[in-house]
Parts: sequence; structure tokens; C-alpha cells
Amino acid sequence: MISGTPSLFVSSLSSERPTGIEQFVDGHTRAYTYYGSGKAALRDGLSDLVEPGENVLVPAYLPDGVVEPLIELGLEPRYYRIRSTLAPDFGDVEARIDTNTVAVLSVNYFGFPQPGLSELSDLVSEYDCYHVDDNAHAPLSVDDGTLLGTRGHLGITSLWKLFPVPDGALLYCNDDDVADRYEPSSLAGIQDGLDRTDIRFVAKSILDDVFDADGTVRQSISAIVSGRGGSPSVGTPQKRYERRKTRMSKLSYRVVEDADPIGIRRTRRENYRRWRTLLTDRDDVELVYESLPEGICPQVFPVRTDRPEAFLAELEQCGIGGVHTWPRLSSSVVEEPAYETARRLSRDVLTLPVHQHIEPSTIEAVGSELRRR
Ligand SMILES: Cc1ncc(COP(=O)(O)O)c(C=O)c1O
Repeated sequence: MISGTPSLFVSSLSSERPTGIEQFVDGHTRAYTYYGSGKAALRDGLSDLVEPGENVLVPAYLPDGVVEPLIELGLEPRYYRIRSTLAPDFGDVEARIDTNTVAVLSVNYFGFPQPGLSELSDLVSEYDCYHVDDNAHAPLSVDDGTLLGTRGHLGITSLWKLFPVPDGALLYCNDDDVADRYEPSSLAGIQDGLDRTDIRFVAKSILDDVFDADGTVRQSISAIVSGRGGSPSVGTPQKRYERRKTRMSKLSYRVVEDADPIGIRRTRRENYRRWRTLLTDRDDVELVYESLPEGICPQVFPVRTDRPEAFLAELEQCGIGGVHTWPRLSSSVVEEPAYETARRLSRDVLTLPVHQHIEPSTIEAVGSELRRR
């Protein structure tokens, strides 16, 4: 069985000395601050730069909860169209900018830089808005010497998406003016001691590891203690946002500081390449990214397929957990025909796990099983 997420109890990957996240990030940004979630970081990053009634442009291909901090700040989230390459539709971005537009958000999907990022950055400067570099998926990706998430005036990254931790994110203040105006709220920083979230996460991690081999037991355990850090991915987007509006847990901080970012990136890249070799010849599966540039740390291996349900069922039968379509879109995107490309992507894109605790031999075995069928 390949699980969807890495385990808390598998230690460092290599004999190299762990360097931790701080050493990895240092030197790439003017200032950074820990938060419990990327959305909490986004809230604080924007709060001193905006006025209620202004609007922020965000891509239509975005999980529904990401706009919740904007709504809380009295801002209008305004969705722009996305192309099937995942680049912004620049004509649409420009058409939606007006005098009340305070910021435009880009997204580095699945660990890769968003196509068209530099054009978007130019457009944002032309209209004198802030550029928010949403890098929730790519804490360890370095593109041409630049840490992803540090290209905009401000950026966010979600540590919990890569590390086996209950929560955790960073806010990057990349610009002097943004850093000077930033005032941390009570959501900023690290909890003083271990709390219920940590204990619940440890309990779930033990159960997951114990029952990893038995899919049925694992599923019922997950149903009882679901979600990372006891934050089930159910409820309205607003409720999910409120649940993760916290400081980063002490456990998360200790784990990310004890991690080996370079080793994690290397293993994820190797697993990505293994999936690519296995799936490249299939007629019913198209790779979202043809190449894996140096320095990129994939969050997942994303593929597109016209028959997502059938492919998902096939992968599940081969013992691959954690595969799903991505993401759950906002209802205003789902209901609006102008966002057809985002809707199609959310139906057709499946994300396969590449995390650092998948044994290479397990992916090979899945490959043999897929070929045999
Ligand atoms: C593109 C994107 N941005 C932002 C977020 C929010 O991150 P967090 O869940 O850490 O609040 C997510 C979460 O899934 C995301 O996928």
C-alpha cells in the first residue's frame, strides 16, 4: 500500500546532517513568520496592506477555502480564468483589474512555478498592485536560484503539505515596504507547548503506521481520527478556515527543524521520475508537466485523464492511497460557464503521491501490477 502522506515516525532520509527549514529559507526573503496554515499567513500578510471594499484577483483553479481570509478582511475575491497550461489568461486578468484591485495572486501548482509568472509580475507592476505568490504546494522548490514563494511582494507556503506534521506554514514578506508595514496578529508564531492538535496527530500517525498494510482497518481508523492534526476536510470553507486559524504547533516546528530538506527533495524527485517512467506510455494519461527542472520539489505527480474514475479505481486496486482529483472549487467558479477550463482541470487532474517515505520498490511493484492488468 502506498499512503498519501509521509509518516511522522520515519526519520531523516540520509546520513547527511539535517539542516531544517530555517537554514533552507534564510537569505531568500526579507522576512518570514510561522503560522498554523497558509490561509492564516495570507490573512496576516494582507491585513496591513488593504482596505475593506478592495478586490483581489485569484485564479479560478483554486481550492474553495483560499479566498476565506480575503472575505474576512472585507475584500472581494475576483476569479480570473486560467489556461489549460495552468498559465493565467492574461487578457482576462487585465479585463478584471480596476481601480479597487489591490492585489493579484498567482499559484505555483503542485510544486512547479506557475507558467507565465514573469508576465503576470509585469502586469501587476503596470497596474501598481501587490503580487501575492501563493506557494502552498512548494516549500522546497528553488527555480533558477529563487525559492518559490519569494517572487511576489509577499508569499505563503504550507509546510504541512510536504512534512509529516499536523499544521504549519510560512508567510514571506519579500518586499521592504510590505515587511515594514506587516504587523503580526496573535496567529503568528509557534505555540508555547504541545497541545491537543499535536497529541491527536501523534495518535493518528501511530494508528496509520500500524494499520498501513490493511486498507480496510486503515480506512475506518481514518474515519474516526480524520484529517491532519484533527482537522477534518469537511464543513463549509469558512469553518475549515476557522479551524486552521492558529499559530504553528510546537510539534510541527520541531519536526521541520529536524528535517533534511535536500534529502526530502531528492527522494520526491526520484519518486516523480519513477511515476513518469511508468505512466509515460499510457494513451489515457497525460502528464501535466513534461519536465522536472533542477531544484523543483514536486508535491505530487499530477496527471490528466479523460477517465478519472476508472484510472482512480485502477490505482486503488494496485494499493495506491491518497490519489484524488484536485481541487474542490469555489461554488462561484462551478456555477460560472466562463471558468470552464478550471472546471475541466478539477475533473481531469489526478494527483499521485511522491512523498519521501515511499520506497522505490513499492512504485516499481505498482508499475508491474498496472502493466499486468
Ligand atoms: C493553492 C493553495 N493555496 C493556498 C492553500 C491554503 O493552504 P493551507 O491549507 O495551509 O491554509 C492551499 C491549500 O490546499 C492551496 O492548495
